Amino acid sequence: MSKWLVVFSLILSVVMGLTIWDAYRQEFPGYQKAYFNMVELNSQTKSQQEWAGSQRVELKQQNIGELRRLDRCQTCHLAVENPGFTNAPEPLRTHPSLLDSHPPERFGCAVCHGGNERGTTTSIAHGETEGQNKRLLKGEYMQATCYACHTEKTLPPRTTRAVMQGKKLLNVNMCLRCHQINGEGGNEGPDLSEVGSRRDWMWTYAHFINPQAMNLVSTMPRFQLSRDEIKYLTIFLATMQNNRDKVTDNRFIAHKSADPNWRWPEKQAGGQTSVMKGANLIPTLEYEGKELFTGAGCKTCHSIGRSGGEVGPALSYIARKYDRDTFVRLLRNPADVFPQGLMPQLNLNEKQVQALADYLSTLK
Ligand code: HEC
Ligand code: HEC
Ligand code: HEC
Ligand code: HEC
Ligand code: HEC
Repeated sequence: MSKWLVVFSLILSVVMGLTIWDAYRQEFPGYQKAYFNMVELNSQTKSQQEWAGSQRVELKQQNIGELRRLDRCQTCHLAVENPGFTNAPEPLRTHPSLLDSHPPERFGCAVCHGGNERGTTTSIAHGETEGQNKRLLKGEYMQATCYACHTEKTLPPRTTRAVMQGKKLLNVNMCLRCHQINGEGGNEGPDLSEVGSRRDWMWTYAHFINPQAMNLVSTMPRFQLSRDEIKYLTIFLATMQNNRDKVTDNRFIAHKSADPNWRWPEKQAGGQTSVMKGANLIPTLEYEGKELFTGAGCKTCHSIGRSGGEVGPALSYIARKYDRDTFVRLLRNPADVFPQGLMPQLNLNEKQVQALADYLSTLK
């Protein structure tokens, strides 16, 4: 009996190993080959063509000793510094500004975007597998990481507004009655000085909506907070990093004030309508709704069947209640469907919105 168990688990681990290896093998080499091909197809000069021909598929990593980081995001995001790729689909699009002042070889990517900088598959690098606590920060949530090196003095006020609002709300709600930050405050709840390294932003957000749903024995009160207030508190808490994640090296701290007219880059539209030659060579990740439901974090708050969180309503039969159009509107902007509700803006891209709307429509 036990012999078969050993044989069976051996087979199982080989199969699992192969699956992981396969995912690893397929994803980034596909993007790299597509990139080199696209450079070649769109090249204007002989030297560009030669460059493309001489490239090899390999892990790309920035070893940033001063920040104790090994950043591999460019293994897939190869075109960030190539000005010719503004019309390409992700992950091969030119970066919207900021890289002149924060060059990748000095800063890497995760220092602003969050995510798991060592990951080499999309879901792991973007911090979207279950149990990770390094989910990509998007949109306003990125202010938390700007604040690691900038203050309200070196960036235009609107660029740190969410962090400032969060700090204010922490005082207004007297969170330090129960919590400590940097040695100040009460002891009823855990110390929050490093909570941003310990908890994914989505966990923190969900915990504000309903502490008991995230921790059965929690004695933390449910505050009457609005969607925006929860967002601001969550962004502020994401700035609370441990010594490993904190930027302490003075050479990386901004001292000069940025141009007061500096603007946050415009969110770029889909990118799938690309006109670049060879864009069709980029392998597209086919999202499976169920997988994305976990990846996009829905499962933190919602259950389907018996699995998932209890912060938001159960969704097992949700297609009986709403049509597909409503799902699309909700996923693009929850406030559009629930103006007074608490579900967060997840900054999903359009591909994700459509895949999730398809999936939700099957839940009857
Ligand atoms: C294995 C390849 C891969 C790696 C490694 C990777 N990415 Fe991505 N990234 C992608 C793909 C593919 C997309 C486009 C996804 C889509 O269309 O939904 C993307 C999209 C993005 C986006 C845009 C998200 C959006 O709203 O659509 C950001 C920001 C991003 N990546 C940041 C990062 C950062 C930061 C890292 C490193 C921590 C990283 N990526 C590592 C493949 C990768
Ligand atoms: C100084 C901070 C900073 C650094 C460093 C940085 N980014 Fe960004 N990035 C931004 C900001 C700000 C945006 C606009 C995002 C938004 O509004 O959601 C952005 C946008 C993006 C987008 C497009 C997302 C969209 O909404 O269209 C991708 C993909 C991306 N960055 C990847 C990277 C990669 C890969 C690197 C490393 C080479 C990197 N970034 C380095 C700040 C940074
Ligand atoms: C790891 C530290 C670090 C992070 C994180 C960081 N910056 Fe910077 N930033 C700097 C440094 C250093 C400078 C150069 C200015 C100086 O030396 O005082 C700078 C300069 C700038 C400038 C002025 C130059 C320009 O490009 O116009 C802007 C604007 C700026 N940062 C925006 C941002 C934003 C927005 C974020 C978050 C998305 C961010 N930074 C995140 C360190 C950082
Ligand atoms: C009456 C006391 C009390 C007050 C006031 C209070 N909390 Fe809590 N908090 C707790 C307790 C107890 C826990 C631990 C149980 C749990 O995880 O819910 C906790 C947990 C947390 C956690 C999770 C920390 C972790 O790492 O697990 C966060 C984040 C948090 N509180 C933030 C806040 C913020 C922000 C405020 C103010 C808006 C606040 N709390 C007000 C008692 C309180
Ligand atoms: C941080 C918690 C949280 C996350 C993450 C979250 N939701 Fe929600 N969701 C809620 C809450 C709370 C509601 C109830 C309405 C409100 O308050 O906005 C809700 C409502 C809904 C509803 C309507 C349910 C009904 O019975 O009316 C759907 C559908 C839904 N969410 C889908 C999703 C999907 C899909 C995702 C992932 C892309 C997601 N949610 C992520 C908290 C969350």
